[in-house]
This record gives sequence, structure tokens and C-alpha cells, in this order.
Amino acid sequence: MKGNDMTLRMKVKERFGKKFDDEIRFFKGWVSNTKAVGAIIPTSSVTARRMASVVSTASGLPVLELGPGTGVITKAILGAGIAPEKLVSVEFSTDFYNYLVERFHGVNFINGDAFDLDKTLGDLKDTTFDSVISAVPLLNFPMHRRVELIEDLLSRIPVGRPVVQISYGPLSPVVAMPDRYQISHLDFVVRNIPPAQLWTYRRTH
Ligand SMILES: C[S@@+](CC[C@H](N)C(=O)[O-])C[C@H]1O[C@@H](n2cnc3c(N)ncnc32)[C@H](O)[C@@H]1O
Repeated sequence: MKGNDMTLRMKVKERFGKKFDDEIRFFKGWVSNTKAVGAIIPTSSVTARRMASVVSTASGLPVLELGPGTGVITKAILGAGIAPEKLVSVEFSTDFYNYLVERFHGVNFINGDAFDLDKTLGDLKDTTFDSVISAVPLLNFPMHRRVELIEDLLSRIPVGRPVVQISYGPLSPVVAMPDRYQISHLDFVVRNIPPAQLWTYRRTH
């Protein structure tokens, strides 16, 4: 086999081997805690890039990610131009957290609960973030907790900036409260298993 062919094959094996490892790791996470993990395979890179497309590097503010899992969306946020030290990412599972810390150097991962951010963020609790990218499985929580989470997240970002949430049902996972926040449908991504709905939430005042 020619040198170039060999290198190409090794690269393909490395790339797809890594993806497969992440899928197995993710599936094991799902088996150990189906409610918290929510999906059985990671989000697609297409979906992750679409979610990350809303971040703004112009403000210089850090970005908050919730539920990074094995890091598909983390990678997309970094790819959108956010420096690792400008990304704060909260993961509930200690196994995923340990893996993420090894994989993405410089990102500020926190092993904690997105539904208790004042405690989870510690010294960073008064930080103003640019935006929030969330993959926590909201549909597994009662509606009042979803609304509380969205309002908490919106209080941590400037008026007009988005919280992006991935979900799999046809409707926004968070009920409309037009006097408190505005909901928009960002995208429907078929290249995801299952196809994903992306929603944004913004304060208008
Ligand atoms: C559907 S998976 C998404 C993982 C990854 N972002 C992706 O898109 O492939 C949900 C993730 O949210 C995490 N999670 C669930 N509840 C959480 C909570 N209360 N706080 C922080 N992370 C949570 C799970 O451990 C899991 O990593």
C-alpha cells in the first residue's frame, strides 16, 4: 500500500474510531442514567454547529453550555471562535465530566447541576454570559422547573441575547410567557438521531 493511502486509512480509522468510542461512552452514560442523559446517541455535528452559530465573540463575554455530554456541542462552540477559557460548561455526570476535562484543555468544566446554578457556578455565579447553549433533557423535567431554568438562564445574559435549547418534540419544551420572554424556532435538523428541534428564548426587556 502506498504511503499516502496508508496515512489516509489511519486518519479515517482514527476519526471514526473516536466517534464510535464517544457513541459507546454516551450509550453507557444513557444506560446508567436514562433520565439525566435523555438521548441514546450524541447530537450530530450539523446540529451542534447550528446551535453554536448563535454565539457572539464580539462582546468578549463568556458562553455558558449546559449538558455537554461527550462534547460535540463544546467542540462546535470552540469552532465558532470562543476561546476555551471563555467557555463555562456544566455537566451533571461525573463520568462525562472527567472525560471532558481530559479532552478539552482550558475549558472551564463544572461537575454540577444546571438547575442549581448559583451553587454550581460558585465564584462565577454573578458572571454575565453572552449566551447559553443547552442540551439538558428538559422534557424529563416538570414544566415549572423548565420555566424556572429558562428564566434563571435569561437573567445571566444580556437582554436580546439567546438561550438555545435542543429538543425532540414538535413544540417548544418551555411554555410561552410572552410578557417574560420571547420564543423562536431556530431550526429543525433532520441530520440528527432523532431529528432535532432547536429553540431560542430571549428577554425583550
Ligand atoms: C441529551 S444529552 C446531550 C449531550 C451532548 N451535549 C450532546 O448533544 O450529545 C444531555 C446531557 O445533559 C446532562 N445533564 C442532564 N441533567 C443535567 C443537569 N441537571 N445539569 C447538568 N447537566 C445535565 C447529561 O448528563 C447529558 O450529558
